[in-house]
Amino acid sequence: MKGTITEKILKQHLVEGNMTVGSEIAIKIDNTLTQDATGTMAYLQFEAIGIDRVKTELSVSFVDHNTLQTDFKNADDHRYLQSVAKRYGLYFSKPGNGICHQLFLERFARPGKTLIGSDSHTPTAGGIGCFAMGAGGLDVAAAMAGAPFRIKFPKVVGVKLVGKLNDWVSAKDVILEVLRRIDVKGGVGKVLEYFGPGVKTLSVPDRATITNMGTETGCTTSIFPSDEITKAFLEAQGRGEQWIELVPDNDAEYDEIMEIDLSTLEPMIALPHSPGNVKKVREVAGIKVDQISVGSCTNSSLRDLKVVANALKGRTVSENVSLTISPGSRQVVEHMVDSGEFNYLVQAGARILENACGPCIGMGSAPCSGAVSVRTFNRNFEGRSGTKDAQVYLASPEVAVAAAITGEITDPRDLGEYPKIQMPDKFFVNDNMILNPLPPEEAQKVEIIRGPNIKPLPSFDKLPDVLEGTALIKVGDNITTDHIMPAGAKILPLRSNIPEISKHVFEAVDESFAKRALESSGGFIIGGENYGQGSSREHAALAPKYLGVKAVIVKSFARIHLANLINFGIVPLTFKNPEDYDRIDLGDKIEIDIGDLKGDVKLKNITKGFEIELTHTLSELDAEILKIGGKLPWIKEHFSK
Ligand code: F3S
Repeated sequence: MKGTITEKILKQHLVEGNMTVGSEIAIKIDNTLTQDATGTMAYLQFEAIGIDRVKTELSVSFVDHNTLQTDFKNADDHRYLQSVAKRYGLYFSKPGNGICHQLFLERFARPGKTLIGSDSHTPTAGGIGCFAMGAGGLDVAAAMAGAPFRIKFPKVVGVKLVGKLNDWVSAKDVILEVLRRIDVKGGVGKVLEYFGPGVKTLSVPDRATITNMGTETGCTTSIFPSDEITKAFLEAQGRGEQWIELVPDNDAEYDEIMEIDLSTLEPMIALPHSPGNVKKVREVAGIKVDQISVGSCTNSSLRDLKVVANALKGRTVSENVSLTISPGSRQVVEHMVDSGEFNYLVQAGARILENACGPCIGMGSAPCSGAVSVRTFNRNFEGRSGTKDAQVYLASPEVAVAAAITGEITDPRDLGEYPKIQMPDKFFVNDNMILNPLPPEEAQKVEIIRGPNIKPLPSFDKLPDVLEGTALIKVGDNITTDHIMPAGAKILPLRSNIPEISKHVFEAVDESFAKRALESSGGFIIGGENYGQGSSREHAALAPKYLGVKAVIVKSFARIHLANLINFGIVPLTFKNPEDYDRIDLGDKIEIDIGDLKGDVKLKNITKGFEIELTHTLSELDAEILKIGGKLPWIKEHFSK
């Protein structure tokens, strides 16, 4: 990885550790972001650390997830977040301003900086050359308190782009091609760093679409160079002075190389229910569709909406199709209105939604039962749309609009001439929905407003040397954090109320789990490969902890969830011998000695009378954090002075 952008940024931010693949390093974090669904908890944790003001260069609190206000709960959270931002020196983006990653790219992201965000699609900012990673809310709280962020030094995969995309093929197809090749686990422990002559054919929002959905490969992050195109983007946003050049050395060495010839790509689509289940659109053309949703942090930029609007111009949305549009930001809307293109959407019969995550997180616009929904989003896990038996496909805005017009999955090249779109040289900049941090003296006087939905954080005891309990649930491979802690309009408003939200843990997998866990004296989760993939939500660790889960024993973990388990004092263990998974059944009584977490540990199955070996990737520090009961008490001890 010599001479790569990844190496350059990490070297500059290194606080501790060796820059060799797989070893743990600690890096300084320049920027943080949160969204409201994870943010309320992150700020409750930040408050508990006891720091007077954020110590990062720039931290932003966005509201974009829970914007449906069917009762007081979400609105209470928004008010809490706004008062916390004022009190502790953060920027605050009001609900309605747009989706966090789109807004961060437009107004805040800078090349060469490090960013962590309590949202797994934080790597969107990699499109501008920022080293941006998703993290648990507690890690974000710790970074705001001045703590470095720990990662395993990644392998750097050089993704070499050559050629140029053809008409009706766009950035989404590039990342779908990457997913087709390496699937939802292929990026684990790696950074996808884009280089090569094809890079200069992609705009910053195009690059951001690619780095955004790179998350679905499980990678640490994805990053593009900061070049003349980046400079022009920043200038167009009125932030030209924030540009720095950041390119790999001519003789940069990558740990692996993947080459993509952009000119050979064609429209792609991810089939239900995995973003890695990718096919060419023409292979599945003809399937009738019920819903099309354009938007999300992946594909809601001005370019994306312009393509959709111009393809719809003078046409009508097919009669059995509901087309929803969620613009990424007010800036996008303002341009669409100013150019008259917004009208093409309205005239064609699109349903215009708020500038927010909306249908992507199941906040409204759930499809009808058994529906086929084609979405420009990044995830299509079962049930995420809000409708359990919906079949969700993921594709580009080009594919989405073609399906909206014809009523069936259609290769957009069949629509004829590709719309010619005109991008502005200067974007409209209007930050009146972003509240700036207050000066320290004023900030100290601000009172934090807590409504009844803001419940105090539960506290947890130190872990004993021997963990005892039963196997509370046994699940298979690729369990997502949506399976563990579902989202949706009913559950999301409970994010700041742990006793209440924990009643929903695993409810779609096993309805009686929460009750059983609370009634027994705690226990264990048994799982397969890639446990905890998907969203960064720390509630998928925090709520099970509240229910008494002591350890999660699986074949392998997804990165962010593994970190979240450690943060909340749940021991993450893997089967040394994966076949041992088959030897544990629901209800088995288990004991695990974690007195010494330096090496492998033994699991005693008391019910069946055998012992097996478990292993882990825990560093000494992780073990220390686990033993003390999680990261919050640890951070308090080390950073609150
Ligand atoms: Fe929001 Fe969906 Fe992105 S929930 S942050 S639009 S993945």
